[in-house]
Amino acid sequence: MLAMNYRGPLRVRIDQKPMPEIQHPQDAIIRVTRSCICGSDLHLYNGLVPDTRVGSTFGHEFIGVVEEIGSEVQKLKVGDNVLVPFNIACGKCAFCKQGLYGNCHESNPEATAVGGIFGYSHTAGGYAGGQAEYVRVPYADVGPTVIPPGMDPDDAVLLTDVVPTGYQAAEMGGIQPGDTVVIFGAGPIGIMAAKCSWLFGAGRVIVIDQVEYRLEFAKNYAQCEAYNFRSMDDPVLFVKKTTDWMGADVVIDAVGADAAGNAMQTITGRKLMLQAGSATALHWAINSVKKGGIVSIVGVYGPTDNLVPIGNVVNKGVTIRANQASVRRLLPKLIDHVQNGVLNPKGLITHRVPLEEVADAYRIFSDKLDNCIKTVLIPPSARI
Ligand SMILES: NC(=O)c1ccc[n+]([C@@H]2O[C@H](COP(=O)([O-])OP(=O)(O)OC[C@H]3O[C@@H](n4cnc5c(N)ncnc54)[C@H](O)[C@@H]3O)[C@@H](O)[C@H]2O)c1
Ligand SMILES: [Zn+2]
Ligand SMILES: [Zn+2]
Repeated sequence: MLAMNYRGPLRVRIDQKPMPEIQHPQDAIIRVTRSCICGSDLHLYNGLVPDTRVGSTFGHEFIGVVEEIGSEVQKLKVGDNVLVPFNIACGKCAFCKQGLYGNCHESNPEATAVGGIFGYSHTAGGYAGGQAEYVRVPYADVGPTVIPPGMDPDDAVLLTDVVPTGYQAAEMGGIQPGDTVVIFGAGPIGIMAAKCSWLFGAGRVIVIDQVEYRLEFAKNYAQCEAYNFRSMDDPVLFVKKTTDWMGADVVIDAVGADAAGNAMQTITGRKLMLQAGSATALHWAINSVKKGGIVSIVGVYGPTDNLVPIGNVVNKGVTIRANQASVRRLLPKLIDHVQNGVLNPKGLITHRVPLEEVADAYRIFSDKLDNCIKTVLIPPSARI
């Protein structure tokens, strides 16, 4: 089958790989009909995630058709059209039972932090991802969800990550009616977080990035304010000034390890790798939230140390909430929101690319070319 193949930082290509097989009675094999490239894939692509092995296939946002099921799978049948949450979760451990499907204790037993994630390095379990024609899906009765009849596949594929993550970013912010919410990052996640902040009653939503076309997109898509940090002396001062010197009630970090904007962080975090990515957006978030405010982090960082201003967290009484999104927990509500027209995820998709052109697709998404917001890869069999 065709599959994306990671060859080292900034190098990916399409290759022939062996077909996945059922390895456990609770597995299913899915024939992929859509997969996305995510900002999280860029951390892998840039070589920032430990134990990203040459030869691996990325892709944690995908939908497809059930091709084969293991002997213990009960809820799925061959031919079902399913969307597959990016987290791999057993559904039975203490963490899954709390709804923390991103922190499953069974799907990534070598690690104590994150659970299993499709196509996300051996740090996240070493599972092959969905930027391929076929993919093996473990615990098939837990994650995969039959796509409601009539739902646009482009909406369905964004329910595997972008919509739940944007929603959970706003949810973790504990937004109160009338709150000012500042979001660093105008990628798909930041834009979706801005959109969802209104659902929690925000009074003002401000997105900050450095890419002009993304700021324009955010303004139109999420009806928010949007500002370029390159045209500010200091983003923290900007947020203070615009909030009567109080600071924002809630700040969301939707950037993560690849943040730009501070030379020292870029050199130590992204070039020399002395810390687990650049913590620039997180710095700005902690310093621009009000005293007693909440910082919600969905931006992904490596598991080891970062230079974060922890003293300011203590002195300001900041609450920090962070996680990988718990897709399974949020899906029923978010499927309703899509079906009722409250959310329009497919509006984020700017690029539909044949899977065979995966290398170009990564370059365009990574370099922010061609007004790219979100890219969907379509395998040959889904194009017939
Ligand atoms: N927690 C989760 O479950 C989860 C799920 C999906 C994605 N993520 C993470 O969310 C983040 C955003 O994902 P995405 O797909 O939108 O990525 P993306 O790469 O498309 O967008 C990131 C944006 O941040 C901007 N940026 C860079 N430095 C900045 C700074 N200092 N301040 C403000 N903006 C800055 C970039 O210009 C870019 O537009 C990534 O870190 C990704 O790994 C987390
Ligand atoms: Zn993703
Ligand atoms: Zn579990």
